[in-house]
Amino acid sequence: MIVFHDMYHNEVNLSFTPDPFSTHPKHVWVICRYKDQWLLTNHSERGIEFPGGKVEEGETPEAAAIREIMEETGAEVQELVHIGQYKVIGKGKTIIKNIYFAEIERLIEKNDYFETKGPVLLKEIPLDTVKIDRRYSFIMKDDVLPHCIDYVNKYIKTKKAL
Ligand code: GTP
Repeated sequence: MIVFHDMYHNEVNLSFTPDPFSTHPKHVWVICRYKDQWLLTNHSERGIEFPGGKVEEGETPEAAAIREIMEETGAEVQELVHIGQYKVIGKGKTIIKNIYFAEIERLIEKNDYFETKGPVLLKEIPLDTVKIDRRYSFIMKDDVLPHCIDYVNKYIKTKKAL
């Protein structure tokens, strides 16, 4: 398990083992790739971030991940891989998020991207500057992001080598 603090000084516990904190997490977050680019969304209040959100009543976390990606970017998922989970121990409450990697099949243009401004495609995630770049969401500004990008890059490399 990896332990660090986020930009609000909340403790974050991150793990790339199956369900270390909860078998029923209420939040999901998805690192998306489309045609050799990273696919993110631009949240109207928080800024640029990978898509994600809350698991609805009666929904599986996997279904929530696929739904959130479609709502926030218009993307259809080809492959969804559960890669890890993190826990944020906040002042008021603790939240647990499943992390996925999604390979995107296609992007459909929509009129409504819910509470976001829609898809953002990036060749590189600027890991050196993202923490000080105001265009990026706070959820991109702790150590969850670099660990996940590293994990996904290794996963893609291994898959390509097979
Ligand atoms: P409601 O339950 O609808 O009121 O949502 P909320 O505004 O309480 O937000 P949410 O339940 O999504 O998250 C609660 C708090 O957890 C946020 O205010 C953040 O401090 C923290 N949090 C949520 N998601 C993340 C995340 O991905 N990373 C980090 N570091 N903190 C997060």
